[in-house]
Amino acid sequence: MTAIERARTVAVIGAGTMGQGIAQVALLAGHRVRLYDSVPERAREAVQTVTGRVERLVAKGRLDRAEADDAATRLESAETLTGLASAALVIEAIVEDVTVKRKLFAALEGVVSPDALLATNTSSLSVTELAAGLAHPGRFLGLHFFNPAPLLPLVEVVSGHATDPAAAERAYRTVLGWGKTPVRCADTPGFIVNRIARPFYAEAFAVYEEQGADPATIDAVLRESGGFKMGPFQLTDLIGQDVNEAVTRSVWDSFFRSPKFTPSLAQRRLVQAGRLGRKSGHGWFPYAEGAEAPAP
Ligand code: NAI
Repeated sequence: MTAIERARTVAVIGAGTMGQGIAQVALLAGHRVRLYDSVPERAREAVQTVTGRVERLVAKGRLDRAEADDAATRLESAETLTGLASAALVIEAIVEDVTVKRKLFAALEGVVSPDALLATNTSSLSVTELAAGLAHPGRFLGLHFFNPAPLLPLVEVVSGHATDPAAAERAYRTVLGWGKTPVRCADTPGFIVNRIARPFYAEAFAVYEEQGADPATIDAVLRESGGFKMGPFQLTDLIGQDVNEAVTRSVWDSFFRSPKFTPSLAQRRLVQAGRLGRKSGHGWFPYAEGAEAPAP
């Protein structure tokens, strides 16, 4: 089973954080890339953003001028879904909502050819559930990139109940050819990384809730003795407390509310207070102008 050829088009749906990163990866791998968003200006702006990032790579000496110029000719926004008709692979990175994603894939089936691969970048929804109801569910799978997609090598290649092994293999080889480190996995809640990370965050939050140690101390211990690049408090401030809590809730629900995955009350309070992390200026730590961050 060969990878998707460079000459073929990759469509990315959802021009937000992940869509922009995935588009950049596919573009620099040599594909023609079409970016679509339900808000068309976002897709157009994302083309500018990705082009700007490619230019920065040239400025840093990490990409040739000729390669950047060529890449610029291969990246376009699409105003409508029908603009994605030529795609050999579609990667969806829209809002994390089963109903919205299913509706999108049902519409896409009427647009792309039956042998095009359809992939979701979902962090925590079931690939099997997203594929249910499709006319050709065999070509549907998860391609879970990590943020920031251009920098982080890991991609979970997730097979649902109906995924054709040949489709998963094709996606795996394609992503491998993009210089990523794909890993095959099945459709269990949270896949590999987001599931294993749940107890990591939960235990850190529990130590804090039990007044065992403060967030800065726990982070410092894990960084300096545990070899982690970031502690759990710093990392969830970067991810966003709302986003991180939503993944925990999804995994907890999927395991029939197993106590092993119970969300944290302290994190709930942060979300309720609007202390979402770096993006809101305050999370476990303050990030206000001039503040030393991270600090307890
Ligand atoms: P985002 O909020 O930055 O971007 C989502 C984009 O999708 C927005 O531009 C929005 O206008 C567009 N959109 C919403 N509904 C749409 C529809 N029906 N059709 C077309 N476009 C639509 O979201 P982000 O963070 O990029 O996440 C996207 C997906 O990637 C989610 O499934 C998320 O769980 C997953 N993910 C997110 C990661 C992260 O760190 N942010 C990491 C890995 C996966």
